[in-house]
Amino acid sequence: MTHTPVLLKEMLFQLAPHSGGIYVDATFGAGGYSKAILESADCKVYAIDRDETVTKFYDDLNVKYPDRINLFIEKFSNIKSILNKSSVIPAGIQKKDNWSRAGMTSSGVDGIVFDVGVSSMQLDNGDRGFSFLRDGPLNMSMDNYSHMNASTFVNALREEEIANTIYNYGGERHSRRIARAIVNARKKKIIKTTFELADIVRSVVFRGKSKIDPATRTFQAVRIWVNDELGELEKGIKAASEILSENGKLIVVTFHSLEDRIVKTVFKDLCEPGSTKTFSLLNKKVIKASSEEINVNPRARSAKLRAIQRLS
Ligand SMILES: C[S@@+](CC[C@H](N)C(=O)[O-])C[C@H]1O[C@@H](n2cnc3c(N)ncnc32)[C@H](O)[C@@H]1O
Repeated sequence: MTHTPVLLKEMLFQLAPHSGGIYVDATFGAGGYSKAILESADCKVYAIDRDETVTKFYDDLNVKYPDRINLFIEKFSNIKSILNKSSVIPAGIQKKDNWSRAGMTSSGVDGIVFDVGVSSMQLDNGDRGFSFLRDGPLNMSMDNYSHMNASTFVNALREEEIANTIYNYGGERHSRRIARAIVNARKKKIIKTTFELADIVRSVVFRGKSKIDPATRTFQAVRIWVNDELGELEKGIKAASEILSENGKLIVVTFHSLEDRIVKTVFKDLCEPGSTKTFSLLNKKVIKASSEEINVNPRARSAKLRAIQRLS
């Protein structure tokens, strides 16, 4: 199944692309956001994704909108170097101290969007090892080639590190029990598959009346750890804020509270009077999906959109 973009209308409303504008889609995925931006104005899109399997979606868009979209298979924390290389922003921007809007009237970026987390393609492909509902190798790396993966997490980390990560990134109160079960299981044999990991978690956390699978929180934590998702998000949005042109917009869609907290904190700092560049919040209250959207796409239930605009 391809990915259904979440909060698409809301993102587009906040971004309000204009002709001649330059936009960055920092999480290309199946290209749903990029396509909507390209359709809405005669602008250019620089798309980024760390997962090379998205290239096929890019190829389709590139045929439809020749010379208007470029894809970079990279982490979005590298957003500045990606745009430097493409001459969208000058090289001096790499060094924050050198960065000045003076003389930058014809360059810079008019809007940057982040729709973080995993795509349906990644979740639905058992071979990627993201889902406890599909059997597959313990991988969970968005890059697909990274040697840091879910197998490293369960088979090599110390028990305490496993417990702390599952607690901090999964909000799992049974983290110590789960870590102990993982370590006991791996003493007998290497833990190889998603089903094996899910069964180990389920053997020590009982579902009770909850609709949520006991493996949910552990899988979320391992995925965040493997991909350094929170570190990437903080670095990515801070770097993005530094390359926006005047009136440029930064829009971020998140899917759980750890991500949203980072966005809220970074945006608050950027909007603080007296900071080097002035930003203002575009939406005072966080934007959530309508019940209509949630009915069609339950994944939208936890989505939150925050947006800021650069004033000077
Ligand atoms: C939720 S999907 C985006 C879906 C997209 N908006 C669409 O409409 O199809 C998130 C995408 O971001 C990518 N991604 C997540 N973290 C990333 C990072 N740090 N750097 C680059 N890409 C990342 C994932 O590989 C995935 O393809």
